Amino acid sequence: MGANSSRQNPSEILKSLDAIGQAHLSAGWNADTSAADKDRFFTQVKKLETAYPGGVKAYVENGRKLLADAKSGVNPLEGWTPGFPDGESLPFNSPEFVAKEALGLKELDGCSFVLVAGGLGERLGFSGIKVALPWQITSGETYLELYIRSILAMQSAASAAKGKPVTLPLAIMVSDDTASRTDELLKANGNYGMAPGQITLLKQEKVPCLSDNEARLALDPKDPYQILTKPHGHGDVHFLLHDSGTLSKWSASGVRWVYFFQDTNALAFKVLPATLGVSVEKKLQVNSVCVSRTAGESIGGLMRLTHKDGRGQTINVEYNQIDALLKATVSPEGDVADAATGYSPYPGSINQLLFALKPYAAMLKKTGGTMPEFVNPKYTDKTKTAFKSPTRLECMMQDYPKSLDASAAVGYTIVTGTTTFSPVKTNLADARVKSKEGMPTYSAASGEADAYISTSEMLMAAGVVMPPAPTVAMSGVKVALGARVVIDPSFGVGVEAWKAKLPTPSAIKMSNRSTLLLKGDLSGLTIEDLDLDGTLVVTCVPGAKVTLKKVRVSNSGWSFVSLGWSGKAEEALMIRGYQLSQSAQRELNFEKPGEYVVEDPEREGLLSKCEVM
Ligand code: UTP
Repeated sequence: MGANSSRQNPSEILKSLDAIGQAHLSAGWNADTSAADKDRFFTQVKKLETAYPGGVKAYVENGRKLLADAKSGVNPLEGWTPGFPDGESLPFNSPEFVAKEALGLKELDGCSFVLVAGGLGERLGFSGIKVALPWQITSGETYLELYIRSILAMQSAASAAKGKPVTLPLAIMVSDDTASRTDELLKANGNYGMAPGQITLLKQEKVPCLSDNEARLALDPKDPYQILTKPHGHGDVHFLLHDSGTLSKWSASGVRWVYFFQDTNALAFKVLPATLGVSVEKKLQVNSVCVSRTAGESIGGLMRLTHKDGRGQTINVEYNQIDALLKATVSPEGDVADAATGYSPYPGSINQLLFALKPYAAMLKKTGGTMPEFVNPKYTDKTKTAFKSPTRLECMMQDYPKSLDASAAVGYTIVTGTTTFSPVKTNLADARVKSKEGMPTYSAASGEADAYISTSEMLMAAGVVMPPAPTVAMSGVKVALGARVVIDPSFGVGVEAWKAKLPTPSAIKMSNRSTLLLKGDLSGLTIEDLDLDGTLVVTCVPGAKVTLKKVRVSNSGWSFVSLGWSGKAEEALMIRGYQLSQSAQRELNFEKPGEYVVEDPEREGLLSKCEVM
């Protein structure tokens, strides 16, 4: 097996497999074995061969080495001492934050985006693809639409700043589990407004399972002519971006930055401009968007590791290794909070990564996109000779800096005092348990509530005073739920853009039971004076220049009601445990381009319960 073996004929393939200790794969074949079954086997081997840098031979060799290390208990962090990485901590809406954001906005035209969406989402227990979930049920918009509309809003901002058309490309990594459904979702919705060719789907292939320490490949128990395969992890994204030619294409079209994000964090773009500003100023090759990490929290910590032989690297240390590493080196207390901040002194890594394209593409050319891998076999006993079930090699996207040398500029950006990370990974039953324990739930309910809070924080940054959000239990999951504010990303990119759209913020008031849903193309929307106690829905078409000069809304509004324990509903609601109840709303629809000013009399008495303009 090797670089050319995808072109080998069947007998050459069998010979090559034999040479790497895999003769058992065809040992059961006999005169009755059908040509069709053999064909299926060879087709799969050829596919596996091209899907892994160096082919099956390299995979088996890497597997043997990693399995030997695992058996002898090699500690991958042996010899490394942790220190603090280089980076920037910016209080949200502070002068430093605003300055970094301004710097970053000038770079937006050079951005590309990579969504890793090949994961199964087993912990969430949702049978669909995660990007098809609504990020909140007030508008019901999917994650995929939110992401694309956010990128298009940045594209418009970049075009306006540069005074010329700009196209920001998006790559989505999918897998066998998500590929067709992602493609169908995009097609059914006209790519949510992205141009033909703007989106590239990259499909990660699964890797073979290993049945023992000799890295003998496992056959599928349900099909002896197929090798058992499992996902290789999100680290595949680097190989795919390189191998598909996507990075070269982007580079040739002037792309300078690559932003990686995950399938269910609605807040993924909020601090991107400021993060870009930090990358520019500190000339970072890799900038990890981080959050303040609570000691013991199950997210990785970014650390500057120095090896006793002099090597150095800034990398994510997995949460289950942090305590032991600290205890064995710099801190006998282990993973504890810093007294001054109340947080772990190591930034919490959330897998949102901003890479400078040029050094990244150059490094992938050198390595072929190979990522450091790990293996996690579950042994049957202490002798570590047999596995409970076949295992496989895995890799993680955030391990890319391990391939860089000590002098590479790798750092982080944290924006404090604001909500930037709230992924949806946990099913309702597990979320209830986590909530009882006082841990972050990373559930559909918390993802939704945090999205409202995050938008409210943008309003507050512009000077709007919002009442504090009370803590409530949504089907047993505690969240801070205030006014449900959903504002399309076209409203503006960055805090300064929002300030411009809200020129008199002290004249905007909203009760906690309110819903404010602003949809469509909001680039022409300005809100001057709004008093909202109930639900207001505003929808604008492109070209509608709308000023809410004085808007008074008081109605019974919308609320969330529990599905109840025996409640039956569609899955996207079942994973939350509640649904939307719409009692009354005021609607302002601007369906044609033009200039509009909405000015109510001081009291709302003249308005109907449901008004459509
Ligand atoms: P998660 O940690 O959420 O894992 O992945 P998961 O596999 O999706 O969910 P569980 O563990 O089964 O519950 C983080 C991100 O990486 C992507 C996911 O889609 C998510 O955006 N991912 C994960 C891939 O793209 N490929 C993979 O092989 C694994």
